[in-house]
Amino acid sequence: MAEQFDVVVIGGGPGGYAAALYGAGAGLNIAIVEKDKVGGTCLHRGCIPAKEFLETATVFRTVSGAKEFGVQAEPPSIDFAVSQARKQKVVDQLWKGLQGLLKQRKITVVKGTGSLAANKTVKVDDGSELKAKHVILASGSVPRTIPGFDADGEYVLTSDEVLSLDKLPATAVVIGGGAIGCEFASMMSDLGVQVTILEALPKMLPGCDKDVVDVVAKSFKKRGIDVRTGVEVRGHTPGDSGTTVSFGDGEQITVDCVVVSVGRRPLSDGLLAEGTEVELDGRGFVTVDERMRTTADGVYAVGDLVATPQLAHVGFAEAMVAVRDILGEDATPVDYGAVPWCIYCYPEVAFAGLSEAAAKEAGMDVMVAKHRFVGNGRALIIGEPEGLVKVIAEKLPDGKAGRIVGVHMVGPWVTEQLGQGYLAVNWEATPEEVGHFIQPHPTLSETFGETVLALTGRGLHG
Ligand code: NAI
Repeated sequence: MAEQFDVVVIGGGPGGYAAALYGAGAGLNIAIVEKDKVGGTCLHRGCIPAKEFLETATVFRTVSGAKEFGVQAEPPSIDFAVSQARKQKVVDQLWKGLQGLLKQRKITVVKGTGSLAANKTVKVDDGSELKAKHVILASGSVPRTIPGFDADGEYVLTSDEVLSLDKLPATAVVIGGGAIGCEFASMMSDLGVQVTILEALPKMLPGCDKDVVDVVAKSFKKRGIDVRTGVEVRGHTPGDSGTTVSFGDGEQITVDCVVVSVGRRPLSDGLLAEGTEVELDGRGFVTVDERMRTTADGVYAVGDLVATPQLAHVGFAEAMVAVRDILGEDATPVDYGAVPWCIYCYPEVAFAGLSEAAAKEAGMDVMVAKHRFVGNGRALIIGEPEGLVKVIAEKLPDGKAGRIVGVHMVGPWVTEQLGQGYLAVNWEATPEEVGHFIQPHPTLSETFGETVLALTGRGLHG
């Protein structure tokens, strides 16, 4: 007889394990079906390993610039096998911690590929079946590929392969200048790889505010990353050494490898057996309402499997909404327009809310203030004066600044600085209200405080 659970979760990534932990914490009896390792893309092939390698790049940059501080050091060189081993150690420690947490909360982890059948039955590929009062689909996403660039692990790599390299190439083309493309390009360039980014759109980092993108583009150019925007890639031909990529108007470039980072697609293949009423959209995403309910009664979907921002923390938030709905609580839906975005390239990017262009497109009358880190004491002390903070507020009929609708940051440690901006946007606070709060001195966060003060019409240093 099939084992019976309150909730069966298919997929043990951030969406799935958050649902399991949150649900078990509320007393539900939960099983997760996972075909590989709990932790999913984020822990094993995404956020965590990518940021670990970006930290390696930071250490390399710091040592390279040590002389400026009077610290004598040999010019650094990279042994990427050691970096790879360190990355794995970090990943494994987090993996162990997560397995411990799941065990502690008495969550059953079933190894195998699960698919949803009729009547909330989950079939596992070893032939077993689990019955549930509720099912949460959280099978995630995989890298998207483009015709002519199938990942072969040698010349063409996706994020999956890059993150398990033992040796860096000397030259690389990165196709796609989005979050993943910019993070990899930044990391590889800092570690000595000659990088070219080929981006189809007129600007890289689509969705980010233009002023922020300009800072990243300038920094990339200064560091020798060749960013080619508005170009179409046509294919590649492997040769004696490396492969030749054709793009644009008959242009070619020969490199050791190509990294394809053109987005991720939902992993819904084989997820639904016959007899379920779960609806997929034309791109393979599971259709959900604002409480993460699919079109089938008692079945939910969260994370990269649904057409919302593909961010681990959005998966966490969606998982909590789904579990609260299962518990019969009045769950507040995720406000997708105000989620925090963080991109860990150098310089880092972090934002919440509308860009200036998006606010204007939405018909808003806005007030904008910007402050550069070059005027910030701490930024000069740490030797990272590149970047800015930009705050966008609604303009009230009396000419004063109303609620803050967007906070955009680029520069040192901004992914750790976004918190205040995120709260301001989500609390719909005004510059007057936020400007009242004191920023410690000297800190990088003073630039946010200063930018907000400028919107009250009375900046201190601006
Ligand atoms: P993305 O959607 O952020 O960027 C893909 C880029 O590739 C876009 O700029 C697009 O215009 C370009 N592109 C698409 N087709 C192309 C083609 N044929 N030739 C040239 N350029 C082409 O996707 P990405 O970077 O792969 O990331 C996947 C997902 O993971 C995204 O939703 C992203 O937000 C998320 N992610 C978030 C991170 C973060 O927050 N730090 C880090 C990594 C990923």
